[in-house]
Amino acid sequence: MDELRAAVLRLLEREPPPGPVMAEDIFVVDSLAGHIERLGRTQTPVTAEGLASLCLAYAHAYVHPERLDEVVSLEDATLLAGRFARRRGGCRALAGQDALRRVLLHHGFALQMLFDIPKTVHLLDALLRRDLAPGAGAFAGLDLGTGTGILLLGQYLLARRHGHAAPRLWGVEHLLQVAGRADALLATLGVGRVVSGDATTSAIYNDVPQGNIACVTNETLPSCGRRLYKEPFTAISGALFTALGSRLDHAVFLPEAVWGSDRAGRNWLRLAPENAFAGDAGPMPARLFYMRDVELAGERIPADQVGASFHALVSPVWAEALGRRW
Ligand SMILES: C[S@@+](CC[C@H](N)C(=O)[O-])C[C@H]1O[C@@H](n2cnc3c(N)ncnc32)[C@H](O)[C@@H]1O
Repeated sequence: MDELRAAVLRLLEREPPPGPVMAEDIFVVDSLAGHIERLGRTQTPVTAEGLASLCLAYAHAYVHPERLDEVVSLEDATLLAGRFARRRGGCRALAGQDALRRVLLHHGFALQMLFDIPKTVHLLDALLRRDLAPGAGAFAGLDLGTGTGILLLGQYLLARRHGHAAPRLWGVEHLLQVAGRADALLATLGVGRVVSGDATTSAIYNDVPQGNIACVTNETLPSCGRRLYKEPFTAISGALFTALGSRLDHAVFLPEAVWGSDRAGRNWLRLAPENAFAGDAGPMPARLFYMRDVELAGERIPADQVGASFHALVSPVWAEALGRRW
């Protein structure tokens, strides 16, 4: 029976796409700590290639925390991307790797966000282009719906690039196993802490470090054309502003604003910090609006075009195999 099961499983196996996940001449070979050290320096230019390589090194550390100190080569990154892409059906590189496969499956949703390299790079790039509001004081940052923690790492780099040696960063993630893994990795790196909890409840914000908040990232958005309530973005924003109020006055936000419309596109709503990302009450509540655009680095972009200008980082076959955020 075991042999039959093994034969059936082998039938489901396919190999990941051929070739490396990124072009060799643009991939930056370094350890995760090396990437963080370099990108945390103000003088280091922020490049798409550098951010994509950071994402792949971060994915490697998230999946293989015991190898955190290693330099991540393009071969390592490609092997991991291929195993991730084939986590359900299997492939030769996953044969006999049951524990690893379980990690990839249990963290599949969070990793899929991270592995959408063009969109993740676009978000990081927009974040790192932000100026901090004057008067925010010491850098305290919140990431709501933390997933693997890549945006919390982005906040760390933003803070370091603005001269904050020891930012206080705090994330909330409701999937227990994801929060635990992100917390362990980010705590080891000295980046911040992640708690497991529901970011739509105001009580969770009692644990936020005291003082003004310098930055909030909240990427819990539905895909373009779906109603906003399909994901908790508006509910999280409501709880956040109720709990922290004026402590958010100096914060920069990612996304900077979210645009929704009714089905026909006749009535539009801009959710932004000025209205606590709640919009004008109007006859229709914000959560019933359809997701349309986001503002990133001062630019208004249809949500399905986020990442479009970074597509060339990953070949089309790899992009297809790795899946998408939204
Ligand atoms: C779209 S993902 C973004 C993850 C990460 N910020 C990134 O950019 O890769 C949204 C994350 O929010 C988490 N999430 C959804 N609802 C939540 C809630 N009510 N409280 C806390 N986390 C939540 C999901 O489990 C998921 O990891």
